[in-house]
Amino acid sequence: MTDLQRAMADVAARVEKTLDRLLPKPVDTEARLFEAMRYATLGGGKRLRPLLVLASARLFNVADDCALRVAAAVECVHCYSLVHDDLPAMDDDQLRRGRPTTHIQFDEATAILAGDALLTLAFEILSNPATHEDPLVRCALVSGLAKAAGGQGMVGGQMMDMMAGRGSFDIGAVTRLQRLKTGELFAFACQSGAILGRADGARRQALAAYAHDLGLAFQIADDLLDIEGREEEVGKKTGKDAAAGKATFVSILGPERARAQANLLAEQASRHLDIFEDRAETLRQVARFVVDRRV
Ligand code: IPE
Ligand code: IPE
Ligand code: MG
Ligand code: MG
Ligand code: MG
Repeated sequence: MTDLQRAMADVAARVEKTLDRLLPKPVDTEARLFEAMRYATLGGGKRLRPLLVLASARLFNVADDCALRVAAAVECVHCYSLVHDDLPAMDDDQLRRGRPTTHIQFDEATAILAGDALLTLAFEILSNPATHEDPLVRCALVSGLAKAAGGQGMVGGQMMDMMAGRGSFDIGAVTRLQRLKTGELFAFACQSGAILGRADGARRQALAAYAHDLGLAFQIADDLLDIEGREEEVGKKTGKDAAAGKATFVSILGPERARAQANLLAEQASRHLDIFEDRAETLRQVARFVVDRRV
């Protein structure tokens, strides 16, 4: 097992435990909703965003317990986005993380509501004093996640993605789409450590630059997996982007140039971390991982 594999397994287990504690237990008349929320968040996923929160928080000696709550909040938003992304009105997918998608396992209305409740739960977690004793820090976290997830972040990117099957998107438009759809949440995950640790401007800038390149590299790899990955391995249906006629880096550049671009972005991402010297080794390894991954 490599150092990164160990770190990923450790974070996955700990964030899973935190989520299990923070998610409502399936009791009362809303039990079905809570079951769906738990189904969508527990058991599966690489937990990459939580790893970014933990690794960035450690750069500023933030207590893991605080970082784990932020990691859980970010994962709630990510899982909500997957539940809604898989709905028939969007990507219409039946397989996610090797299991039936939430609307297949439950039903569409339950999946929509579970997504809604996961989104709001994220902000409930962040605004709780257990996340940080300073209300200004909590407010900055809430505001940062709201911006990353909203219309000028992930949701805006999803809207562009819905149009990408119809319009003629050039490389600039695809870059913007990817930055919003995937990059902004990655950026918040990386920045959250700096917010929790009240880091100075230069360090925040370095993390922002790292996250920017990492997010793009990650999404190019996702698009490559859509054409090159095996369904059993990636745990979701492949070949979807081409079938939908979606403009991606891969459709515009072709797989070879897209891969070269992803590699370049990963190297560039790592170089932004020089300011942290060898304390940022995990983040450097993540940059390598996002482009080499098979899942
Ligand atoms: C998939 O994200 C959705 C995109 C933003 C491309 P991940 O590849 O991080 O999914 P999980 O959490 O590991 O399942
Ligand atoms: C999903 O992008 C991004 C968000 C949910 C914000 P994709 O549609 O490419 O993700 P997959 O391939 O279904 O995981
Ligand atoms: Mg999609
Ligand atoms: Mg999808
Ligand atoms: Mg995809």
